[in-house]
Amino acid sequence: MSSSTVRIVDVSPRDGLQNEPTRISTEAKLGLIERLSTAGLQHIEVGSFVSPHRVPCMADSMQVCQSLPKHTDINFYALVPNVQGLQKAIDAGLTEVAVFTAASEQFCQRNINCSIDESLSRFSELMVIAEDHDIRVRGYISTVFGCPYQGTVSIEKVVNISQQLLEMGCYEISLGDTIGIGTANQVKILLNALCQTMPIEKVAVHFHDSYGQALTNIYAALEAGVRVIDSSVAGLGGCPYAKGSTGNIATEDVVYLLNGLGLESGIDLHKIVAVGHWISSLLQRENASKVGLAMNMRR
Ligand code: HMG
Ligand code: MG
Repeated sequence: MSSSTVRIVDVSPRDGLQNEPTRISTEAKLGLIERLSTAGLQHIEVGSFVSPHRVPCMADSMQVCQSLPKHTDINFYALVPNVQGLQKAIDAGLTEVAVFTAASEQFCQRNINCSIDESLSRFSELMVIAEDHDIRVRGYISTVFGCPYQGTVSIEKVVNISQQLLEMGCYEISLGDTIGIGTANQVKILLNALCQTMPIEKVAVHFHDSYGQALTNIYAALEAGVRVIDSSVAGLGGCPYAKGSTGNIATEDVVYLLNGLGLESGIDLHKIVAVGHWISSLLQRENASKVGLAMNMRR
């Protein structure tokens, strides 16, 4: 493996909470963000500026963003689908956003109500404004290993969209296995194809764990040189437009894996495990982190 440092991007305040049946208060979201920061997370996706009718749990993202700690080195950012979302992120004082499209036409339509091409042209427009305001833009591609509506997804499509996102100015592409269906061989094949056209340093992986493959797939990605991993504390998460999709891989489980591999994430395992138990009990749901559960049993 190349570099020994891995950047973990905790997406639990957004991906983790967007599909939860239990709504938590804005204060509780801020409590989650603060606890993640204290555990050592430097990159946190704090909310999304999308239609509040479509994703009601994210309707308080403006209040969340406006109450974030100032003067910190932590990179707080939000998900935005269009210029309207970007404008809100700017008003909220953020300096980074993430745009999101998909490698599957049908998922893109259901998720953001437009074709892939339309989404990309929305992002080109957004990029110009982002650049004017010094806003960094991350790019997500969903359904990279399969779609809940159309089934298979072509590798060429993922490669092509990644290139377009990079060319328009995204600093990094996060590959979303939205329904957690991929296996390690698919990870190797896709990363190998992507590396023909872009540096591996520009790739992040965002694996949901629906089929229990996420940690193995992350290992395959690490072996291929990926050093940016998205995860959610307690394995929270899921997309309202991807039926059957469960949470992201748990941040605790990724930290445990990295510790065992001698890779540095800067995250305190005991502290992040405590955050996982805290948020699970607040949401009255079972903690989906195996490491969190195992460490709790040993106490
Ligand atoms: P639309 O209905 O096509 O847009 O929505 P529209 O332009 O016709 O506008 C309809 C209404 O939405 C209007 O309000 C707009 O003002 C409003 P009205 O006039 O009816 O009162 N609107 C907005 N409101 C707030 N923020 C905005 C915004 N834009 C328009 N930015 C839209 C298009 C994309 C907004 C909509 O389809 C939407 O919100 N979809 C939800 C997308 C979403 O949040 N999905 C879940 C996150 S993605 C995910 O989880 C995958 C990921 O984790 C990676 C992976 O796992 O694969 C990232
Ligand atoms: Mg996701």
